Amino acid sequence: MNLIQVVISAIIYILPAYVANSSALLLGGGRPVDGGRKFRGKRILGDGKTVRGLVAGVSVGSLAGVGLSLLFNDLLFFPLGIVLSVGALSGDLVASLLKRQLGIKRGGLVPLLDQLDFVFGAVILGSFIKVPALNVLLVILILTPFVHLFTNLVAYLFGLKKDPW
Ligand code: CTP
Ligand code: MG
Repeated sequence: MNLIQVVISAIIYILPAYVANSSALLLGGGRPVDGGRKFRGKRILGDGKTVRGLVAGVSVGSLAGVGLSLLFNDLLFFPLGIVLSVGALSGDLVASLLKRQLGIKRGGLVPLLDQLDFVFGAVILGSFIKVPALNVLLVILILTPFVHLFTNLVAYLFGLKKDPW
């Protein structure tokens, strides 16, 4: 594979995770997943992790997998889309749990963790269905922070996100 092919493979592999993450941002809100509860005196997850965000993320991310299945006529993308979406949102939840325990408030910036949490979760769960090639994984890890910062800035400028990161 040349570099262009690796980049395209990386985008295709991680697409459902990106869709899941953005759908949670765009469609989330309302009741927080932790119901406002605390663990060791700190919010478990915080108000930025909502039930609607989880449901929207898993649903729309899985739909992206269906779309890829149809596009490439390959049924594997269907289960892959589901686990990548579940993985993406789980990774994001785990990062919030860690941030809260470290005393970082909702939206508080943790470089790299904030941009990559969903990718870690997605690739770990996604690998149960399909393990990405090492060069594909590297491209995903290198490109995602830039893509994430750019899309979040756009979301912020459109008033869809509280912080520009
Ligand atoms: N979101 C949601 N439900 C989720 C994940 C995200 O509703 N399961 C929405 C929230 O509105 C959240 C936004 O998407 O504020 C951006 O997500 P993220 O940056 O992960 O959350 P933060 O607000 O920065 O909170 P945290 O500090 O916990 O990361
Ligand atoms: Mg954040």
